[in-house]
Amino acid sequence: MSAKQRLAQVVGTAAVGALALGLTACSGGDSGGDDLTTIGFVAVGPEGAWREANETNIQDTFTEEAGYELKYAPATNLDQKSQIDAFTSFVDEGVDVILLSATEATGWEDSLQRAQEAEIPVILLDRGIEPDDTDLYVTRIAPDNIEVSTAVADWAVSAFPDGANYFVLEGPAGVSVVNERNEGFDAVAGAQPSLVKVGAQTANWSTEEAKSVVETVLKSNDNDVQFIFAQNDEMGLGAVQAVQEAGLTPGVDVKIATIDGTKNALGALAAGELSFVAEYNPLFGETALDVVEKVLAGDEVESSIVVPSATFDSPEAAETALPDRKF
Ligand code: AHR
Repeated sequence: MSAKQRLAQVVGTAAVGALALGLTACSGGDSGGDDLTTIGFVAVGPEGAWREANETNIQDTFTEEAGYELKYAPATNLDQKSQIDAFTSFVDEGVDVILLSATEATGWEDSLQRAQEAEIPVILLDRGIEPDDTDLYVTRIAPDNIEVSTAVADWAVSAFPDGANYFVLEGPAGVSVVNERNEGFDAVAGAQPSLVKVGAQTANWSTEEAKSVVETVLKSNDNDVQFIFAQNDEMGLGAVQAVQEAGLTPGVDVKIATIDGTKNALGALAAGELSFVAEYNPLFGETALDVVEKVLAGDEVESSIVVPSATFDSPEAAETALPDRKF
């Protein structure tokens, strides 16, 4: 029997026991006030529009009205140590469930082992861990980064039938989704000899940093770059600014593709400044709540839960989506 099955069994027994005693289902922790289920959310904190939409959606879902006390613990300046400290506090406090959006992919084994020993289920939101030991957590809820970045590469192959020089703006080194996005993109683009990678560099999800990086790339390549893959919207919008300041026309001289699908990116796609946007849907709070309820009831859940995400490949597609856009 896997650790997860054991945990589910323990949780199931605990839940039945608790229900028999008229207590709220809990899994090794103590319930919050007035029978609320306590959730420790080890979060990333301020990072950009995607993160704000995702973490707001989680907080808006796990409300007291829904029967939860959500304890929100954003990282301090994206620092992993502050996340590990918050994680440890939640284990010591005996919360019922921990939600983790990891700023770094590695370095979580000890924390996850401690939570397992305390019989506190851990659910990964968005970010994975490396090595991906699925026995150390119950499940990961996220759009599929390989699928999303493959969609960008497939679009690039179709958009540049005669080939292109391209540059990749990456998120921060050591983040799981960056590695996954490179893997998905490279598997397709790397098989197209006419798509020539002139370089890749992190711009740390930042518009300003991406603008500076692309300014340098255009200068060092005499503007002979036709495609930029930005691993998130903010960096793609920075690339747009750099292309414009180089006297080039984004969408014509240089096509820019991004991941996330926030309002600002769809607005830029509608204006022809971006050429392709792959959504990485941040609004999975209801899915997370459903998973938490299943876990606390002792039900089995899949080790990976994929959040469906769309793609947008034209100004018309962006204009259609914008009026109802929630992030
Ligand atoms: O982990 C998801 C990534 O983190 C998003 O693509 C990016 O915008 C955010 O900062």
